[in-house]
Amino acid sequence: MARWSRTGDIILVPTMGALHEGHRELMKTGKALAKKEGTLIVSIYVNPTQFNDKEDLKSYPKTFKKDYELCREEGVDLIFYPSDSEMYSGRESVSVTEKKLTQHLCGATRQGHFDGVCTVVTKLFNIIKPTTAVFGKKDYQQLAIIKQLVSDLNFSIEIIGAKTVREQDGLAISSRNRFLSTEERKQCPAIHEALVAMALSTEKQCPELIALGKSIIESKAPLSGIDYLKIVDRQTMEPIQTIDRPALAAVAIILSNTRLIDNIEIDSL
Ligand code: PAF
Repeated sequence: MARWSRTGDIILVPTMGALHEGHRELMKTGKALAKKEGTLIVSIYVNPTQFNDKEDLKSYPKTFKKDYELCREEGVDLIFYPSDSEMYSGRESVSVTEKKLTQHLCGATRQGHFDGVCTVVTKLFNIIKPTTAVFGKKDYQQLAIIKQLVSDLNFSIEIIGAKTVREQDGLAISSRNRFLSTEERKQCPAIHEALVAMALSTEKQCPELIALGKSIIESKAPLSGIDYLKIVDRQTMEPIQTIDRPALAAVAIILSNTRLIDNIEIDSL
């Protein structure tokens, strides 16, 4: 990477492969930012340190040939595709921890997950030295944590959030959707439906809004279990009581062994 000759802005789209339409959107955003003279780089690395469940890591889909084609279609200039031994010596004793935003939502239930994300993203930033990096808003908490990381550790990198891409029935596209049974898949539109109902409601009290969202998911997706459904401050990820600032409704649900997350921005107007 150090020897790669660079022109214009370097735009990085970090991924773990198994690329889908959501990643395509990140790449399109990246390509537009790179313009003609810039370079669009996609990293593909299934980062073991961010998996708190080893079975989840084992079953994570690896589809490099397809990924390569998708990158080519989107005009990606370079794919950074390191091996585990290139990324981790096995002797490291330093990692990157964010201490506040990670206390909420996924950070509360996925122990160590965001330490792994922050550490690998820091490594990717140091290796690739991008001017801009694009992350999906579907992983909204991750995006907020990376923004904090860049600010706290003085990286001169602009962080851009790209919109969530959905199936026609509203289900947010994720590499995990392939693990859903037909019956489970049928119930998934309820997730986005619940979030939209919460965002469109005139109710401003968060407990009422959460009850509304839960009732939709519980009645329309009875196969699912709600891990969390919360309304948080969009910057700090702290739960709020009233929609009196830019807010985020965020949900994680579990269907058999598959954990799906989604969110919607709620504005205070
Ligand atoms: O969002 C992801 O795919 C991963 O968490 C990331 C940012 C590529 C780090 O491994």
